[in-house]
Amino acid sequence: MQQRHQLVRGRVLHFLRDPGEQDAADSFQYWPDGALLISEGRIADAGPYAELKARTNEALLAGAEIFDYSGKLILPGMVDTHCHYPQSGVIASFGRQLLDWLNDYTFPAEAAFRDPEIASATAEYFLDRLLAHGTTTASVFSTVHRESVDAFMGSAQRRKLRMLTGKVMMDRNAPENLRDTVASAERDCVDLIARWHGKDRLRYSITPRFAPTSTAAQLTLAGELYASRPDLHVQSHLSENLDEIAWVKSLFPDCRDYLDVYAHHGLLGPRTIYGHCIHLSQAELALMSRSGTAAAFCPSSNLFLGSGFFNHAEAAGSDIRVGLATDVGGGTSFSMLQTMGEAYKVSQVHQRPLSPLRAWFLATLGGAQALYLDEFIGNFLPGKEADFIVLDAHASPELEFRLRNRDNLIETLFAMMILGDERCIHTTHILGERIHARMC
Ligand code: GUN
Ligand code: ZN
Repeated sequence: MQQRHQLVRGRVLHFLRDPGEQDAADSFQYWPDGALLISEGRIADAGPYAELKARTNEALLAGAEIFDYSGKLILPGMVDTHCHYPQSGVIASFGRQLLDWLNDYTFPAEAAFRDPEIASATAEYFLDRLLAHGTTTASVFSTVHRESVDAFMGSAQRRKLRMLTGKVMMDRNAPENLRDTVASAERDCVDLIARWHGKDRLRYSITPRFAPTSTAAQLTLAGELYASRPDLHVQSHLSENLDEIAWVKSLFPDCRDYLDVYAHHGLLGPRTIYGHCIHLSQAELALMSRSGTAAAFCPSSNLFLGSGFFNHAEAAGSDIRVGLATDVGGGTSFSMLQTMGEAYKVSQVHQRPLSPLRAWFLATLGGAQALYLDEFIGNFLPGKEADFIVLDAHASPELEFRLRNRDNLIETLFAMMILGDERCIHTTHILGERIHARMC
């Protein structure tokens, strides 16, 4: 069978590593008239258009599908490192703080996901929204119900997406209709891992909700599952809210701090990621770094729920892998552009402003690294899976006015993260194929 090739032309930008606080010039590549050559869904080549064309076999080029996006930015698809698909309808629910918001809105909404039809319809909606916002990979919480994982994985598989999810484990301190047990969690997780983990581009993430809603026995099970295979992931929550932290202290009095609860149960290490991580001690930061445990920075959620201000510069300076995350539905938007804007504002509180280059790194390669998926996605190095987005930086009157005669790369990146929204996502491609295009 003949191989499928695509040639994509535009303003190509991708990252090779974290630009840091000084915007290291060798951390990214930018070709104003650039191109990607894609072969069977993977990047075969990337570079300046004229050079790439000159070095490519003529017969191959003649048979390639051409996408000419000249003038528009082309970046790797964005990575949302922490979000909850069953909370799609919880966004914008008036919040006091975390624990009330969970009880008043989130738990009742999640109870509905026992119904496979509700789960499927919501998974479809959620993935439609993600792709419209340019997010092509996400680490996603399902609910306690196995049906919720089947629905999400099925939807993601049909769309050929690289996605992570898992069944929430919670066997205490939650309403009766949302509780599992150690035995039922083990049975469900083992079944779901066998059914979905490693199928096409899907991976299973062991998902104890957070320390207060699991017994020590259930956290032990989660740690054993994580250790049972070399490529399983773990996601949970850590140090989001001061009342939550005090609660954890009272539930696990023998543990030194919140992170120590997870350490005790074998839940730190490669492919583990914790949402929020706001109120961490120096000892916790050091242990996250040493163990390779990643943090998901959820600025819009942290502002919405009044949780606090994650110090990204400090965490990155401690060599912790950090990804950016919407935390739908504690977060207020599906948009990683708006999330970058909120991250910038939170960084200003610490007087260490997040540069546009670093913000876009976080939303792409940084997220892939935080999820330990950078061997597959995150930039345009040869062999990577060709998930990419095409951005229209002039998509609104405000952006058009702001960027008139000033659309150099840095101004454009920054204006989009402050003023941009879904209208900036012109097109989304998965494995080279165009699967979402803006309506007008
Ligand atoms: N901590 C435990 N569960 C949740 C959740 O669903 N959202 C947020 N923001 N924090 C949590
Ligand atoms: Zn969360």
